[in-house]
Amino acid sequence: MSKQIHLAAHFPGVNNTTVWSDPESRSQIDFASFRNLAETAERGTFDFFFLAEGLRLREVKGRIHDLDVVGRPESLTVLSALAAVTTHLGLAATVNSTFNEPYELAKRLATLDHVSGGRAAWNVVTSWDAFTGENFRRGGYLDKADRYVRAEESLRIVRSLWDAWRDDDLVLDQAAGVFAREGAGAFADDGDHFTIRGRFGLPRSPQGHPVVIQAGDSDQGRDFAAAGADVIFSRHGAFEAGQTFYKDVKSRLPRHGRAEDSLKIMPAVTVVVADTDAEALDKAHHIREQQVSGPTAIVLAELLWGRDLSSYDPDGPLPADDPVVGSSVTQGRVGYNDPAPIVAEWRAQAAANGWSLRQTVINQQNRQTFVGSPTTVAEAMNHHVQENAADGFVLVPHLTPGGLDDFVDRVVPLLRERGVFRTEYESTTLRDHLGLRR
Ligand SMILES: Cc1cc2nc3c(=O)[nH]c(=O)nc-3n(C[C@H](O)[C@H](O)[C@H](O)COP(=O)(O)O)c2cc1C
Repeated sequence: MSKQIHLAAHFPGVNNTTVWSDPESRSQIDFASFRNLAETAERGTFDFFFLAEGLRLREVKGRIHDLDVVGRPESLTVLSALAAVTTHLGLAATVNSTFNEPYELAKRLATLDHVSGGRAAWNVVTSWDAFTGENFRRGGYLDKADRYVRAEESLRIVRSLWDAWRDDDLVLDQAAGVFAREGAGAFADDGDHFTIRGRFGLPRSPQGHPVVIQAGDSDQGRDFAAAGADVIFSRHGAFEAGQTFYKDVKSRLPRHGRAEDSLKIMPAVTVVVADTDAEALDKAHHIREQQVSGPTAIVLAELLWGRDLSSYDPDGPLPADDPVVGSSVTQGRVGYNDPAPIVAEWRAQAAANGWSLRQTVINQQNRQTFVGSPTTVAEAMNHHVQENAADGFVLVPHLTPGGLDDFVDRVVPLLRERGVFRTEYESTTLRDHLGLRR
């Protein structure tokens, strides 16, 4: 049998990929928008619905960056509400391990697993920066080098809390007045970051362990995922980069005693579909022009250069300045550890193609992953999966909430015809949708 494709729907809320100024765009905050996109995903029998997280509004040169959409209400609250209006769709929350305590994380995620009947997932992210930290009690108190030390310890403790109740610990003997087995929920842990002991307050949730997703890209991040995640949300959606990433991460699994199919790799991708390939290319071009206006091009270049570039014309040549490492011109967005080689690559591409600054940003940053007729898109996606560039995809629409309608109506049926995507849900838990052991 061909490898089966896994699909997730991303509700962006933030980033210039979202064209919130388009007349077809609706609120990034109203529950109706979340519900509408989740219902589309469930109609398409997607594995899960994915919410990202930002713990501080992005700023550029000290001002809120309102070219990015200011959306993103708190994920677990939104997903709990979605649990009540969906029946099978997995519900994945991005929640930071640096700014939360393991007990809270374990409890909130187990609660989502209970209220959804086994559909919860935790995307563990590790932003540690002082800018984000200013919103919290202790400021930027974590060294970058420790972000995964704390994440690993948090995940280990969260799992031990989930395991603090066994399946049969809940006795519920009304006649005898016994709620739980003696000792149920007891935990104790002494680590570098936490010394905690007590009783975990919630009986075991339907999945036992909600699905764990990881979304960092460094060597440490990849090891963290290989050691303990069920899914990686990667940025390597292009075919060759996807294959390289896939091979790298899967080759780390045996060191942790894990089988190749115990970790699913799902890159973020975009899809532009139209009646013909030529129409889809036109549409894709129009979307990119909307996503990267002149001012957005300058801001994205400032993120790379680490300098104020407001005196430059976006329709002119690339700045001649050298990039600055570790600058705070743009805050609240993942920056570049080593911008020099990327600037060199941009310069080479611009020179070879005669591109302006804006054209360079569009071509370097906003490549759409799958563009074409429904058949072209279905075949390309299937090729990616069968050739191990991915196990599936997290689809990032440029419009919310209607941005996945075409995909679900026109591409999903073709994937089903090819026998590489489910025609209906075969189970109710997210672990089962993903083919992962409980
Ligand atoms: C595809 C992708 C999505 C991410 N989404 C988020 C997010 O929603 N919120 C967040 O705080 N960090 C997010 N991150 C940042 C990572 O969690 C991590 O903090 C950052 O990449 C640094 O880790 P690294 O050095 O391993 O890459 C994302 C990273 C990637 C690659």
